[in-house]
Amino acid sequence: MDPNPGTHALPDRCDFTVFGGTGDLALRKLLPALYHRDLEGQLPADHRILGVSMSDLDDAGWRSAVRAALVEHVDPTDLYDGAVDRFLARLFHLRLDANEPGDWDRFHSLLKDRPHPEEAVRVFYLAVAPALFGAFCRRLDEIGVVDDRARVVLEKPIGHDLESAREVNDAVGQVFAEHQIFRIDHYLGKESVQNLLVTRFANTFLEPLWNSHWVDHVQITVAETVGVGGRGAYYDHAGALRDMVQNHLLQLLCLVAMEPPTYVGRETVRDEKVKVLQALRPMSPADVDTDTVRGRYEAGLVDGEPVPSYADDLGHAGSRTETFVALKTEVQNWRWAGVPFYLRTGKRMDRRVSEIVVVFKEPPHSMFPGAEGVTAPNRLHILVQPDEGMRLHLTAKEPGPGGYRLRPVSLDLSYATAFDARLPDAYERLLMDVMKGNPTLFMRRDEVEAAWTWTEPILRRWASSSERPKRYPAGTTGPTAAATLLERDGRTWQETDQ
Ligand code: BG6
Repeated sequence: MDPNPGTHALPDRCDFTVFGGTGDLALRKLLPALYHRDLEGQLPADHRILGVSMSDLDDAGWRSAVRAALVEHVDPTDLYDGAVDRFLARLFHLRLDANEPGDWDRFHSLLKDRPHPEEAVRVFYLAVAPALFGAFCRRLDEIGVVDDRARVVLEKPIGHDLESAREVNDAVGQVFAEHQIFRIDHYLGKESVQNLLVTRFANTFLEPLWNSHWVDHVQITVAETVGVGGRGAYYDHAGALRDMVQNHLLQLLCLVAMEPPTYVGRETVRDEKVKVLQALRPMSPADVDTDTVRGRYEAGLVDGEPVPSYADDLGHAGSRTETFVALKTEVQNWRWAGVPFYLRTGKRMDRRVSEIVVVFKEPPHSMFPGAEGVTAPNRLHILVQPDEGMRLHLTAKEPGPGGYRLRPVSLDLSYATAFDARLPDAYERLLMDVMKGNPTLFMRRDEVEAAWTWTEPILRRWASSSERPKRYPAGTTGPTAAATLLERDGRTWQETDQ
């Protein structure tokens, strides 16, 4: 039993180190997130942020790079001179070449060079290439800065298959205990994703319907309009299945399908999620052929602007990497037996939208003459982004005499309207949770490995197949085979606003 479910206190003193402190993630996401929390008065007074990178910057140089990043990535209405200056004063930079023992000694000295160094909780955020995770942890151990309260934060990808994920987990696990390891899946920090748990379990009306008796199928879509941009080198080794499905989409699926935990605690939610991953129908090679679709974008128009093909973005042809995946799976347990879960994600799609659609069964009997073909099954759209909220599609009577004319209508809940407040970025919640030592919204080792166990047969089959990803023009909903995947089951993808 969790001794203190829900109570995780902020430490009074903290040294938050970002390895990769001048990188894109640090400047675009981590530092703006920490700034916002500081603005809300949530960072401990005695809190330093240490940037470590290969750059030759001194503290002043890093502070001005971070100032520029805040101007670029924080809403101007949230930028106050005093608050920015106070935040920047917490920042220190160290140039570190990971192969130079002397540089690690200097890092050690930097951690010691503060009042009460032994009392500060140390967070090591590894925003570096995943191949370096093990080596960085070993170095931290060797220089003696890892104590019982220290935490390490890892960005995905954790490995590129099950074996490599185990190697990373083993290497990190030799230095940090599991409760000290925070594996980020930033989707879990999104407000709308956290709200999924609340919607399901702080209300009663959905639960009796949330099963194979009433749910026909579930669709999970994460569509992006961006291409691979400057990340081609990473992306071409990963592809959409590793980059998005193995983590973000499976995590969303877990939150939709999981059983209610007894309470929201550091292990209870993760215990339930891992059961869902373990219950996913394993894919045989024949299943991969029938139940998955891979695509790759060609040149096209996104928001009316011409955009290049994946090969042009990459700078060479000949890659077999997918930028789109659609697949069908099933959660083989009592609640969900026989209910298909359709997942789809892609880059350079017609619009940016992440949503979960729960499609309910048709009424068992149609009692309104002439209504056949007019009514649609009830659908609950859970809108993850960009317009967070929920939409329930119902059938209603059109007002006026002349019998029952039925029409589709919707009940809309927009979080922006319901709560007149800024929705914090996912990293704000997650970084605070790291400092508080609350791992609920982070991926546990067994979750990551269960997700790879399910994903790996797909990767293997694709690697051995002579078939290439199907082409789709940028700015569309993906290859036609993705539509066929549902049509052959008598279903269609539910696009928002339909
Ligand atoms: C990242 C992927 O994890 O998530 C990117 O590596 C993707 O390829 C991004 O673009 C999407 O995140 P969001 O929050 O913009 O939906």
